[in-house]
Amino acid sequence: MKPYSEYLQRINTAIEQANYGQYPDELYAPIRYMMSLGGKRLRPILTLMACDLFGSDSEKAVPAALAVEVFHNFTLVHDDIMDNAPLRRGKETVYKKWNMPVAILAGDLMMIKATDFLCETDTPRLKELITLFNTTAREVCEGQQIDMNFETQNQVKHEEYIHMITLKTAVLLGAALKLGALVAGASDSDAEHIYEFGKNTGIAFQIQDDILDSFGDGSLTGKKVGGDIAANKKTLLLIELLESVHKDDKKVLDELLKMPDSDEKIQGVLALYTKYQIREFAELKKQTYFNLALKNLSKIQAKPESKQVLESMAINLMERLS
Ligand code: IPE
Ligand code: IPE
Ligand code: MG
Ligand code: MG
Ligand code: MG
Repeated sequence: MKPYSEYLQRINTAIEQANYGQYPDELYAPIRYMMSLGGKRLRPILTLMACDLFGSDSEKAVPAALAVEVFHNFTLVHDDIMDNAPLRRGKETVYKKWNMPVAILAGDLMMIKATDFLCETDTPRLKELITLFNTTAREVCEGQQIDMNFETQNQVKHEEYIHMITLKTAVLLGAALKLGALVAGASDSDAEHIYEFGKNTGIAFQIQDDILDSFGDGSLTGKKVGGDIAANKKTLLLIELLESVHKDDKKVLDELLKMPDSDEKIQGVLALYTKYQIREFAELKKQTYFNLALKNLSKIQAKPESKQVLESMAINLMERLS
């Protein structure tokens, strides 16, 4: 395995060199804008790492890695419309900078380009790659719809929340790793274990995302702080608060949830999170899924020093500020 910075550099070069198309500029400019905003590039790096982990050359997995990152960016372009989000990676979201029709169409084309890139992978297992990719894409859509359904649903159980984030976020981390494993010719059981490792890491990753949305530093996350509260998102934090609040506070909370987006609403919910130690609860849940991920990792047949790189990466994700 190579150091993280080398994988990052490799994927950034692939992104810079990728040809999405030229004409009409109204369609392609937003795609180039979104892809050039940066971000952690986490998922494609996982694809490259998994390929090396199973003894192959990560260069072979570059098209699949590019496909994963373009797909991820497509989901973000549409997610920002669904979530009414003004900021992404510290910059205006695509639908704010242009408009909603442009963001919808640019997103559609990104999905198409993602499969184009995937199909450029030189592997006898291409059909498996495409099936995994499409299954994952369908699951992400299902998760996104459930996430929106929850906005107007009064009660959401913890298991329902975990199921929703597994679909909208975690399966893509699992698939990113498994794609790299398949390109490398890993065994079925190793491919499955690394998928599960990615999935459990992904659940913890989304819990951290929920924590950062309320308690993070906007200059680091590049998103509007309190965006989830503004949209009545049933994050793990809000679900736990709804279950914990005493009678008097419940009335206050119900009023806050009825309010439109405002500072008062966000500050009011944040104060209740603090009062009921909701962040601490979320941190514990996050740790539970991180521990499951470590168990999955321990079952993989690969060099211990290579597995250590993945473990360090997962630890960094749990503690991330951006
Ligand atoms: C944001 O993903 C969407 C979630 C699933 C939480 P990232 O936090 O990986 O976003 P970027 O790509 O680094 O901007
Ligand atoms: C995003 O979840 C999941 C997908 C984009 C599929 P969020 O809505 O929490 O992601 P952010 O916080 O906007 O990045
Ligand atoms: Mg969302
Ligand atoms: Mg969002
Ligand atoms: Mg979020």
